[in-house]
Amino acid sequence: MNKEQNEGQPAEWHGARMDFREAMSYGDYLGLDQILNAQHPRSPNHNELLFIIQHQTSELWIKLMLHELQAVRRHIREGNLPPAFKMLARVARIMDQLVHAWDVLATMTPPEYTAIRPYLGASSGFQSFQYRELEFILGNKNPALLAVHEKAPDAHAILARELALPSIYDEAVMLLARSGFAIDPARLDADWTGPTRADDSVKAAWLQVYGDTSRHWALYELAEKLVDLETAFRFWRFRHVSTVERIIGFKTGTGGTAGVSYLRKMLDVVLFPELFALRTEL
Ligand code: HEM
Repeated sequence: MNKEQNEGQPAEWHGARMDFREAMSYGDYLGLDQILNAQHPRSPNHNELLFIIQHQTSELWIKLMLHELQAVRRHIREGNLPPAFKMLARVARIMDQLVHAWDVLATMTPPEYTAIRPYLGASSGFQSFQYRELEFILGNKNPALLAVHEKAPDAHAILARELALPSIYDEAVMLLARSGFAIDPARLDADWTGPTRADDSVKAAWLQVYGDTSRHWALYELAEKLVDLETAFRFWRFRHVSTVERIIGFKTGTGGTAGVSYLRKMLDVVLFPELFALRTEL
């Protein structure tokens, strides 16, 4: 009889701790009770769990991106770029990962989704307040979209606050000004609640940065990190609309928009306009 089978003896396995009556376990630390009990399929369909988990995991990763980006904004404001670079690289890799996550959802076929759709009501990713916060912190602001969150005062307050704050890109533009580049004062004293608008003085400043990279290395690196992030975000948008078209064709969205044609319009969003515009001139 081996040790595990001895009655009254604690079980043993390669020296691993086995008794968690008094100690914090893996599940306690991670709150797995809450997380693993937060999936409540409404249909009898087998595939709904995939649909739920795909959204929930995306929301968790968005939560981490927001955490990183808020710190990035602080670091840029303080002119402390090395930690900001590390965090921006992390956010771009998270976004890349979410781009690949669409492969899993793409295994859902139109009849599988059609079986679930009546149970979704009017709910849609369009109402994701974290996604909206992500768009806002990156400068794609639209005050009209706050209305969706009236019924959730906490989310509404977070979005209203974020709307009024300078975006990460606004902070980068302010850093350009502090670094001695001539930025139009109107750009620096903006009403932050609107979307980023292309500005000639900002483009001219970035052009100088790209024109003498060894002199302006840190700003050049910041610009390229932002381009990396925006590129990853564009891929996410593209994979979303492609996956949606594959699954629902040209049906309207549960959130009320025209569906694919709405999502295609969102592909035209440019977060950091001058950083892309200047490339024609390099
Ligand atoms: C079968 C899966 C999916 C379908 C059919 C679908 C469909 C759509 C449609 C049609 C819209 C436009 C709004 C509407 O009328 O509903 C939308 C928006 C959105 N969806 Fe999805 N989606 C799917 C999966 C996902 C997943 C996994 C996420 C991850 C979080 C997501 C996040 C979003 C977001 C954030 C928006 C708002 C986009 C914007 O306003 O720019 N969707 N979706």
